[in-house]
Amino acid sequence: MADFVGAIDQGTTSTRFMIFDHDGNEVGRHQLEHEQILPQAGWVEHNPVEIWDRSRSVIQTALSRANLDPSDLAAMGITNQRETTVVWDKNTGRPYYNAIVWQDTRTDRIASKLERDGKGDLIRQRAGLPPATYFSGGKIQWILENVDGVRAAAEKGDAIFGNTDSWLLWNLTGGPEGGVHVTDVTNASRTMLMDLETLEWDDELLGLFDIPRGMLPEIKPSSLADGYGETTIAAFRGIPLTGDLGDQQAAMFGQVCFAPGEAKNTYGTGNFLLLNTGTELVRSDNGLLTTVNYKIGDEAPVYALEGSIAVTGSAVQWLRDQLGIISGAAEIEGLARRVEDNGGVYFVPAFSGLFAPYWRSDARGAIVGLSRYNNNAHLARATLEAICYQSRAVAEAMESDSKVHLDVLKVDGGVTANDLCMQLQADILGVPVSRPVVAETTALGAAYAAGLAVGFWNDTDELRENWNEDKRWEPDWSDEQRRDGYAGWQKAVERTLDWVD
Ligand code: G3P
Repeated sequence: MADFVGAIDQGTTSTRFMIFDHDGNEVGRHQLEHEQILPQAGWVEHNPVEIWDRSRSVIQTALSRANLDPSDLAAMGITNQRETTVVWDKNTGRPYYNAIVWQDTRTDRIASKLERDGKGDLIRQRAGLPPATYFSGGKIQWILENVDGVRAAAEKGDAIFGNTDSWLLWNLTGGPEGGVHVTDVTNASRTMLMDLETLEWDDELLGLFDIPRGMLPEIKPSSLADGYGETTIAAFRGIPLTGDLGDQQAAMFGQVCFAPGEAKNTYGTGNFLLLNTGTELVRSDNGLLTTVNYKIGDEAPVYALEGSIAVTGSAVQWLRDQLGIISGAAEIEGLARRVEDNGGVYFVPAFSGLFAPYWRSDARGAIVGLSRYNNNAHLARATLEAICYQSRAVAEAMESDSKVHLDVLKVDGGVTANDLCMQLQADILGVPVSRPVVAETTALGAAYAAGLAVGFWNDTDELRENWNEDKRWEPDWSDEQRRDGYAGWQKAVERTLDWVD
């Protein structure tokens, strides 16, 4: 068997391809950013053709930099930004519209009408999700209603939908010439269209959004021995595609959270805290999502509770791009260290409304508690604290729903390189925070899912052996400091609500 497994990580801001060996060590990578298209307030789009071009080139470049041939890869996995919606013509491969990104809030009216019409509980019960702008269903409906010709093309069977996993799988396996139209259970569980118990598209849910069933991809397991197909691209032909899962579920795989009660928090553009609940479907009373964690071949699906936070790392980018108080994301740590504490300032970056546990699309960002004394270092510190306070709110919701107490929080993602932020996370949560040696757990998880399918790894126990701790942060704050700090945060959150009608 070949010695390596590859994984595409198609994320919100960039696409990377990573190659791993049997011990889970990285042996090659390449990464390219794509444009964030912001046509008006609240709208966020990507160009699907650019994403496909970037994906092809990162695979090719990573292989050639590592001096490897396609035949050196036993399998390839795909992981992706979830919910982001692409609708394209299956005869030409041309998208009808830009991808509507998960952060986009244009479907606000669709989501609030569902709640007003009393459909919220049906969606919560069957799909595990609250009606919100975040998920794919409303985004597909928006494209059907607003882009000329799409409704007719969908009814004829020409217009098809996918998240970026499906879009890439279709292109990798031949596009208009025989490309497969598939997705996996984890991605499907983010659409508001799949029944969490049957793992099938649900006609009643499809009816709420008026989506023709023929547009939807076939739902497959996340790790599949027969594979979804093989790459047909001349530069890297014949690689079996055997793993597909949404990026946060992939990070659970990469963090080897295979047992009920195991959890991780990923710090990317947003934060995503997931808790494995095993084969039990736990319904949240506290604003969390019930989602599929993974399904390996014919085995029973494993579920998770998820606390999704829309804006964390992207708040740091906002300080850089919109306010210009730092020139690179890494600078925030030095700036925040210039002050001892937040100086009374709280920043709630509710740019896309507030996700878990609040689900308030009428919220907008606020900086509160300012006095003449405050400076940009306090704002930098308040931004790091916002990342951590939002994570505390979802961690508390998770403990209430699951009755599982987190003894330690496993973390991964770009922001975990920020030592101060991780220390604040331990302080604000009051539990230790632990980062693994391989911080790229998302790509690693997709590689694991793909490699398990073809016997490159035998079972999840073997994967566990690859996990090693790199660094641990212990809580330092007194209980009083923790309590007062959180009370200030909660007061600040109140100020952001009811901001838009
Ligand atoms: O649900 C959205 C999430 O999948 C996006 O993750 O890492 O691309 O920001 P990321």
